[in-house]
Amino acid sequence: MFNKNFVFGCATASYQIEGAPNVDNKVPSIWDNFTKIKGNIDDSTDGSTCALSYYKYKEDVKLLKELGVSSYRFSIAWTRVIDENNNPNEKGIQYYISLCKELVSNGIKPLITLYHWDLPQWIQDKGGFLNRDIVSYFEKYVDVITKALSPYTNEFITVNEPQVILTLGHMYGVHAPGLKLSTKDLLVCVHNLLLMHGTAVKVIRKNVPSSFIGIAPCMRPLIPITKDDLLYKKCYEAMFYLDKNGEFVNQTPIYLDPIIFGNYPKNYYEDFKDILPDIKEGDLELISQKIDIIYYNFYTGTYASLDENNNLKIADMSKGYKTGNVPWLQVIPSTLYYGPKYLYERYKHPIAISENGYCNDDILSKDNKVHDEERIEYINEYLKELDKVSKEIDLRGYYYWSLLDNFEWNNGLSKRFGLVYINYSNNERIKKDSFFHYQNIIKNKGI
Ligand code: FCB
Repeated sequence: MFNKNFVFGCATASYQIEGAPNVDNKVPSIWDNFTKIKGNIDDSTDGSTCALSYYKYKEDVKLLKELGVSSYRFSIAWTRVIDENNNPNEKGIQYYISLCKELVSNGIKPLITLYHWDLPQWIQDKGGFLNRDIVSYFEKYVDVITKALSPYTNEFITVNEPQVILTLGHMYGVHAPGLKLSTKDLLVCVHNLLLMHGTAVKVIRKNVPSSFIGIAPCMRPLIPITKDDLLYKKCYEAMFYLDKNGEFVNQTPIYLDPIIFGNYPKNYYEDFKDILPDIKEGDLELISQKIDIIYYNFYTGTYASLDENNNLKIADMSKGYKTGNVPWLQVIPSTLYYGPKYLYERYKHPIAISENGYCNDDILSKDNKVHDEERIEYINEYLKELDKVSKEIDLRGYYYWSLLDNFEWNNGLSKRFGLVYINYSNNERIKKDSFFHYQNIIKNKGI
């Protein structure tokens, strides 16, 4: 049983559920363009034909209300709020005001993600994350939207999964904007992203009374295969060691150390000494303003053991484990025990799980139902572990990913994570069995 103030919510993101790409003066985002290029999306779909929440948001709020969540995490499309001349677009702003009003009048608190990957294409054309001007563009957008939404909420997430933005979007090029940058350029992007975060914190503090702010990175934690103090210690150390030879932009300390401790890890300066970005005076102060909570997205973990010399041995997770309908999603429930525990131990901030969920091969039965047993089992097993760690750390909430089936980035519409099935031929919303299961969990504050 979770404590009585524990928040149960659901999460979505603008590009994945809204549709309506050319409506009400919206300008193109990098995802609008990336999805048009043949071969970028596995099933050749794009976000324009998704759940169409832009039109059906009232129906979606009704679903949230029936589900019983007290909070809804969604993201704002920057491309609806600001036009290509960097001026506010009233129609787009009005949409998010209407959505917030609908939520609040149904007793649901908005948790707003300011950046969930749909960068305006016109900013990408000026260099995107490589150009420090992105920080002042973000400042303007955050100023406009937080002023408009401050009557409805005080809770904000600045950036979703910096790791994925950099690793998949800028290192391997499988997400928009499809770049494969050098290490030197990646370090510039990381620094500009951190400046965007810091600038957003400053602007929100100014615009929103009693603001409550976090960032939402992601992690695939190492899971000790046995209970063993030395193994735990080695896993913990590995999670927070910035390894220049690994996917360093996919690692937690390059983001959270500057934000929480006010500086990059020590070895960053040595390991990258010839290619450091331009860190100006005042940058680290801006980046490290106080935040109130660390949100974190967790889906899966990687087992680790010790070899005969007591060195960490990392398991190959690609075979032998139950896996969801996307290849990276091994079902490892103790992810929700170890992940939050490591984070709390290092950064000593309140923590909430801003995403966790299961991609299932959902099938609509003849009687219009979806029996998604695997998802129910996943939720149960993961929440048991989360419940355990909630007795050891300051844990505030859990957001299931996702309310609706949606556009799963480079995998497209065919990968389904929702509690609600979307019939893409007519956009009908159908509650899966897991919807009713999660509803019960929320009612009972536990499984
Ligand atoms: C996370 C993303 C989210 C969704 C889930 C499955 O990496 O933040 O938008 O795609 O994965």
